[in-house]
Amino acid sequence: MAQLIDGKKISQEIKDELRDKVASLQQQGIEGALAVIQVGNDPASSVYVRNKKRACEYIGIRSESYELPEETTEEELLALIETLNEDPKVNGILCQLPVPAHMDENKIIRTISPEKDVDGFHTQNVGALVVGQQGFVSCTPAGVIQLLKRSGIEIAGKNCVVVGRSNIVGKPMALLMLKENATVTICHSRTADLKAVCKQADILIVAVGKPKMITAEYVKEGATVIDVGIHRQEDGKLCGDVDFDQVEPVAGAITPVPGGVGPMTIAMLMNNCVEAMTR
Ligand code: GUN
Repeated sequence: MAQLIDGKKISQEIKDELRDKVASLQQQGIEGALAVIQVGNDPASSVYVRNKKRACEYIGIRSESYELPEETTEEELLALIETLNEDPKVNGILCQLPVPAHMDENKIIRTISPEKDVDGFHTQNVGALVVGQQGFVSCTPAGVIQLLKRSGIEIAGKNCVVVGRSNIVGKPMALLMLKENATVTICHSRTADLKAVCKQADILIVAVGKPKMITAEYVKEGATVIDVGIHRQEDGKLCGDVDFDQVEPVAGAITPVPGGVGPMTIAMLMNNCVEAMTR
């Protein structure tokens, strides 16, 4: 039986630690506020936004909600972001992605002040990660590092394979594992013999967005398997990019879906918000 990596429990621990930190900052007169922008009403985005606001409430920081209609112009959105950049009471800003097709996502990310970019998407923060300087780190990959560390899984010297090369997960994930002294391989849709490469991994991190793509043949006996994917199946149940039932007997440790990486993203967003308060 593989060790089950419990993201629900670990994210709760992190939020409790942050709640204590926020309470002590408040005693020093330091208050936190996160501005959360949502354009349109994509149902999945609404769920994420609601959970982010709840997490703020839990750790004791204020959240400001900006729910803009789908027809909002890019100019209007950028003007709001600029106002929030200048607002000394707001220390974190996030714009829930995706934004409607008539907007340029990159331009929006660029407009958020890097000092308030708690998502860690601004090129200044991404660049800081590349060269090993202080900056905000993308929440999901930062959450994976915490899952590994808090589950007692050694990273240094291990072969780590990251499947997926997105700006939000795959690329920063690889950089963070490198920072932890793993030997890192990044795979993607054009990788030759993906199975053979994955099978070399001591730590296999999967963020491809394809339900149950990683089956037992991709996994080395005893490997740690981290599943970043989340999909709603026809029967209404959730599954990941990893075929859990097949892979669990082979793995040494594995994250479930739901209850693995998912809850860590918001915990690490809260971590970034608290960091923004102390900067
Ligand atoms: N959409 C999906 N994931 C994220 C995230 O981490 N941050 C934002 N802002 N939008 C998202």
